[in-house]
Amino acid sequence: MTTSAAAPAEATLRLLRERRIAPSILSADFARLGEQVGEVLAAGARVIHVDVMDGHFVPPITFGALMVGALADQVHEAGGILDVHLMIERPERYVAEVARAGADGITIHVEATAHVHYTLQAIREAGCAAGAALCPATPAGALGEVGHEVLDLALCMSVNPGWGGQEFIPFSLDKLSRLRRALPDHVALEVDGGVHGATARPCVDAGANLLVTGSAVFGAPDPAGAYASMVAAAGIG
Ligand code: DX5
Ligand code: ZN
Repeated sequence: MTTSAAAPAEATLRLLRERRIAPSILSADFARLGEQVGEVLAAGARVIHVDVMDGHFVPPITFGALMVGALADQVHEAGGILDVHLMIERPERYVAEVARAGADGITIHVEATAHVHYTLQAIREAGCAAGAALCPATPAGALGEVGHEVLDLALCMSVNPGWGGQEFIPFSLDKLSRLRRALPDHVALEVDGGVHGATARPCVDAGANLLVTGSAVFGAPDPAGAYASMVAAAGIG
């Protein structure tokens, strides 16, 4: 591995550190994906969350680098970024391909590889922001060693990964607070799963700045209107 290389773009880091709703395309109508992503971009969304699942780390299979490539130009032309959440085993094997396809941030699961530090470095060297995700049962302290060095974003799963539309797990709020206290200020804190009108504000109060919303935005008949409602519900407008 080289050690000299690219770093994440400042504009990407800025967007990841803002208080934002990040719509997840997992709940979108794939037959009208470009149109629906266009609607939320027009409503102000700038962080588009892409859930890659491999049928091994989590049971479902969704999509991969081809989907990142399909959305990259549209999202970048609107001033947005692609926040790619890899729910796949041994994610280190796919970092370069996903980065080349146009990802701006790549988040891996600490449970999915023995080589978290290596993979986070590889993500940065590929020019992307490096994120690490924790399943509900994984202690907040799992990021202790890497949190001060190679981490741009911590993702706290507030449901078990694999499916949209699940109930928010209440102890996630306390975990978010502990993560926020433990991590340096420059590390973004993202919460993912079960974030809707009632759970958004408590997540912000607990210290999350980036709120992934799948069913609450793309599951609604009017994703742009639902995006605006989520911004209001989270108190981040
Ligand atoms: C689930 C995914 C989420 C999913 C969230 O494993 O990581 O990003 O889209 O969906 P909602 O917001 O419906 O819980
Ligand atoms: Zn996700």
